[in-house]
Amino acid sequence: MNQYIIANWKANQNRQQTYEFIRQFLALTATSPLPQDLQLVVCPPAVFYLEFVGKSLPLAAGLQDISVFAGGAYTGELTAQNLTGIEPAFVIVGHSERRREFGETNELIVRKCEQVWSLGATPIVCFDEPEAASLSQLLQVHAGKSMILAYEPVSAISTSGSAGNLDPQALNQQLVGFRQLFPGMPIIYGGSVKPENAGSYAGICDGLLVGSASLKAESFVGIARNFAHQ
Ligand code: PGA
Repeated sequence: MNQYIIANWKANQNRQQTYEFIRQFLALTATSPLPQDLQLVVCPPAVFYLEFVGKSLPLAAGLQDISVFAGGAYTGELTAQNLTGIEPAFVIVGHSERRREFGETNELIVRKCEQVWSLGATPIVCFDEPEAASLSQLLQVHAGKSMILAYEPVSAISTSGSAGNLDPQALNQQLVGFRQLFPGMPIIYGGSVKPENAGSYAGICDGLLVGSASLKAESFVGIARNFAHQ
């Protein structure tokens, strides 16, 4: 099974910083290629998505979030209709910031997954432990569809918690239950991942979802290399 290192830029970065990331990423990977079984994905703000397309970068571009509506009179939304022909490979849904700031529920998040599947893309479905059981039930009717589960303890996220990154052994224990809830699905971990701790998750989960440390190409590539080489 593929492993994933996914950058969630959230609402950070401007155009210049996006160009600079791409320039540095290309320089860092030109002479020393990334491992083949590691899929790197950058999910920038939607307005910068197309900057990543057609540049022969060794990564896929994804999006953060999608409207629950398929298209039409919904001012400000980004819909599956808008994304037809853009073809993002991945879309992050259900992030704890959206649950907290915008009141998103598992029901709504699964409807957003349906929009992502309608594009032929893979949803990256974020959850914390309290949401896991109900999310698993709601996803049962969609068994067999492509998805990546991202376990993100809110307390471990650098901008919302103070606990720091989850201890890899604690993650290992949590994953025993999550693998029963989400059989056969890749499960990645997110929360204060940095180059210094990325290697400690290798062999435990199927990849990493990275916020703050993904904003600079050097630390994002460092995380990928350290996860792969442990
Ligand atoms: P962090 O964010 O890596 O800055 O903790 C992770 C996330 O919220 O997806």
